[in-house]
Amino acid sequence: MEALISELPRLRSRSTTERPLHGWSEEAWQALECDVGLHAARLSKPDREALEEVLFLDLSSEFDARFYSIHVRQLGIELSSAFLNFEPEWARDEAKHMDGFRRTLKAGFGWSEQRMAELNGRRSNFEPLAHLFRDEFAILCLSAYDELATVRAYLGNMHHYRKLGPAFLRFLRSVIADEGWHYSRFLDVIRKQHAHRLGEARSMVQEIRSAEGTPYASTFVLDHDDDVWSDAIFDEAEQVLLRALERAQLGSHRTPAPFAPA
Ligand SMILES: [Fe+2]
Ligand SMILES: [Fe+2]
Repeated sequence: MEALISELPRLRSRSTTERPLHGWSEEAWQALECDVGLHAARLSKPDREALEEVLFLDLSSEFDARFYSIHVRQLGIELSSAFLNFEPEWARDEAKHMDGFRRTLKAGFGWSEQRMAELNGRRSNFEPLAHLFRDEFAILCLSAYDELATVRAYLGNMHHYRKLGPAFLRFLRSVIADEGWHYSRFLDVIRKQHAHRLGEARSMVQEIRSAEGTPYASTFVLDHDDDVWSDAIFDEAEQVLLRALERAQLGSHRTPAPFAPA
């Protein structure tokens, strides 16, 4: 994961239109569906069942991004313009990811529109995670941690994804790049808006890590029910984020950034 993170400064400069999935034409999406259909038809029964389960969990958690968006705006806490400007961009990316998984399940696994519509019955419960949504600094740390863990989980499931062919892998690599970019943007907002809170980084990150194991309730964050998740991933995400925040703290002594509510 460190290797991937070392590329994040380059990713940070990408605009929405430069992010690959936003440039995909309808023809490109149809080519994905066609390729996925061909590869899925050749899967053994156990491979097919395992992949379908993984893809359903991916689809569900990307779908749940909408609940996160609604929740943070209904909290009634001060949110900086930097966060409020980035959040819709983030939500658009997550919706793109959901769309890719939706198309994949339809093309390769025979999912109907009716089955997809069942997602609309999902209900979120943020109550068990309320302490991690207490202010913008906590939300940003939680979101950065979650993006890191998500990158690692997508990489961990690569042996499943590979079976769906090159077009799906191209899609998935773009998803991973987006998640890495999201991490770097959340970190950026922490640095620019909350430099004065960086001394709390260690306890904040430990608090997030301690919340692992909370049963998932469509909160988008900490959606860690798939078999791919392990303490190794959580520990790695914790350590990578902590190091980044500690580096940010060292740098912040030169130019402390005030919190700027929208
Ligand atoms: Fe995503
Ligand atoms: Fe993301």
